[in-house]
Amino acid sequence: MPRITLPPECINRVYRPHLENEERYQLYFGGAGSGKSVFLATRCVLDVLRGRNYLIVRKVGRTLRSSCWNEILKAIDRLGLRSLFRITKSDGIITAENNGCQLLFAGLDDVERIKSLTPLTGVLTDVWMEEATECTYEDFKQLDKRLRGESRHKKRFTLSFNPVYQRHWIFRQFFDCWQDGKKLCRGKNVSILKTTYRDNRFLTPDDRQALESEQDPYFYQVYTLGNWGVLGDVIFRNWQARDLTEERNRCPQFFYGLDFGFAKDPCAAVCCALDRKNKRVYVFAELYEKGLINARLADRLKDFCGHTPIVCDSAEPKSIQELRSLGIHALAAKKGKDSVLHGIQWLQGHEIVVDVKCTHLKEELSLYRWQQDQEGRTLPIPQDKHNHLIDALRYALEHESTCRRATTAGKGELGL
Ligand SMILES: Nc1ncnc2c1ncn2[C@@H]1O[C@H](COP(=O)(O)OP(=O)(O)OP(=O)(O)O)[C@@H](O)[C@H]1O
Ligand SMILES: [Mg+2]
Repeated sequence: MPRITLPPECINRVYRPHLENEERYQLYFGGAGSGKSVFLATRCVLDVLRGRNYLIVRKVGRTLRSSCWNEILKAIDRLGLRSLFRITKSDGIITAENNGCQLLFAGLDDVERIKSLTPLTGVLTDVWMEEATECTYEDFKQLDKRLRGESRHKKRFTLSFNPVYQRHWIFRQFFDCWQDGKKLCRGKNVSILKTTYRDNRFLTPDDRQALESEQDPYFYQVYTLGNWGVLGDVIFRNWQARDLTEERNRCPQFFYGLDFGFAKDPCAAVCCALDRKNKRVYVFAELYEKGLINARLADRLKDFCGHTPIVCDSAEPKSIQELRSLGIHALAAKKGKDSVLHGIQWLQGHEIVVDVKCTHLKEELSLYRWQQDQEGRTLPIPQDKHNHLIDALRYALEHESTCRRATTAGKGELGL
C-alpha cells in the first residue's frame, strides 16, 4: 500500500478509532450532519488501498450518485489521492491502481446488477449500506450472504442511518446491547456508534443553528439529538423553540422553579412566564448542573433569580432551609395528590414556548414519555426520566395551575 499520511484534523475525533474497527456488523447512527457519511466514505478510500473490496448500496440506485459516489470522490480529493484511482463513472466503479481492489456501487432496486457485481480481484470484504433504514430486513440478509469466501481481511457489514423509528428491524436486530446515554456499545459481533452534530466540527454555524432551532419535537429528537424516534407516547407535543429575547425584555413577571439533584441527577431550575390570555407558557432560561452543593447552588441562584421567590421540590426541606439562610427566597412546592398528573395536564393545555438556548429542556420535552405495560399499552404514569427541568417548570407554575384545580385527571384529558 502507498504511504499515506493522514492529517489528524481531516477526520472527526469520535470516528478515528473506527478506521480500524474489525467488528462484523458496524452501525453508525445518530442525528443529521454528524459526519457519518463523510467518515465512512473516507474509510472506504483508505480501505480499498489496503486490499478491501466494497459493495456500497442504497435502496434506490439513482440516489447513490448524489450521495456516496460524490462523497467518495470528495474524500479522494481531500486526501490528495486522485492519481491512485481509476474512476469509471459510466459503470459506477472505482478501482485502486496499486492492487486492483474496487469500490462497487449498486441500488437495491437493481436486482440484476447486485447479483452480477463481483470485484476484479479477490472477494467482497465489505458492504456499506447507506441510509440503511430505507432497506428491508430481507435486503440485509441477502447482502450479508454476499460476504463470503477467502480473504485475509475480516468481513464487515456497515450500516449508517438516522434512527427514524424505534420499531424498525435494525433496532430489533442489533440494539439489544444498546444503553441510552452511551455513545458506543459493543455486543456479539456488533459495534454501535451514536453521533450528533456536536461531534462534527466541520459543520457550519448555520447548519448548527438550523438543527438547534428545529421546531418539530419528532424531528428534533431524531435529527438533532440522534435518538430513536417514537411517535406514540411522548407527553408534550405542544411546544416549540425560538429566540425569546424580545418577550423576555417585555415580561412583567417571572416565575422560578427548582428541582434538587446532586450526583446522579442534575439540579434543575427554570425561569418562566405565563401569558394567561393566550394560554402560553414562556421558558426563558434554565439552570442544569450536577454536583452542586447548596452553597454553590445558592451562588448560581443569586444570578439566576435574585431575590424573587423560587418554588422548590418539597422533598428536601433541609435544602430549602439552607438556601433561605444563604439569601435565596426558596419556597416549598405544595404537591399533593395527583399533582404530577395535574401539572402535566395543565401544561398540556398551554402552548409551551422555549428559548432556543434551553438545550436541556428541549431535550427533556422531546424525551419525556408515558410508561407502558407489558403489552405495550400506554399507562397514565409518566416515566421517571427526562423530567428534572419539567418538574421545575411544574413547581414554578404550581400556584397558577392550582388556582382552579381540577379533580383527578382522566386519560382523555391527558391525551392518551
Ligand atoms: N471529515 C470532514 N472533513 C470535512 N468536512 C466534513 C467532514 N465530516 C463532515 N464534514 C462536513 O459536515 C457535513 C455533514 O456531514 P455528513 O454528511 O457526513 O453527516 P451525516 O451524519 O451523514 O448526516 P445525515 O444523517 O444527514 O446523512 C458534510 O456535508 C461536510 O460538509
Ligand atoms: Mg449521511
